[in-house]
Amino acid sequence: MKVAVRYYTKTGNTKKLAEAVAAELGVQAQPISAAVDEKVDILFLGNSYYAFNIDPEVRDFVRSLDKEKVGCIVNFGSAAMLNSTYKKVKAEADKAGIPMSEKEFHCRGEFKGIHKGRPNAEDLKAAAAFAKMIVSGKSS
Ligand SMILES: Cc1cc2nc3c(=O)[nH]c(=O)nc-3n(C[C@H](O)[C@H](O)[C@H](O)COP(=O)(O)O)c2cc1C
Repeated sequence: MKVAVRYYTKTGNTKKLAEAVAAELGVQAQPISAAVDEKVDILFLGNSYYAFNIDPEVRDFVRSLDKEKVGCIVNFGSAAMLNSTYKKVKAEADKAGIPMSEKEFHCRGEFKGIHKGRPNAEDLKAAAAFAKMIVSGKSS
């Protein structure tokens, strides 16, 4: 199975999660500025909420994905208050014609002193375990 990890971050939290996920999968975590050129079965996509929405760069990245190259998207990320960005990302994935796994990883992320230190070591461990569970085929 071929996988790729892409992330968008403003303050570094999603990068930490992406690196934990990528290390577990034996690939490099790359920012969304790196196009998905090779065919992958699963694209793990790390992203977050900013002012109640995903960043326009994430929106444009998902819209630009080639459905012939990306088998499915698995969402992961953190936020300070809101729950996951799943619905926002799925709306774009639907437009691109790319299926999105119902499974996702979400945890709290530090923002202006709230949830200090998150994602923490436990969050990173949980993110890695999530990635392993996804690729082991126990879930889709
Ligand atoms: C400019 C900005 C706006 C944010 N707006 C929200 C928000 O509307 N809702 C929320 O739950 N978290 C919000 N957050 C918190 C982030 O989602 C949280 O800190 C996340 O972990 C940031 O990930 P990043 O470090 O990868 O950018 C905001 C953070 C920033 C920097």
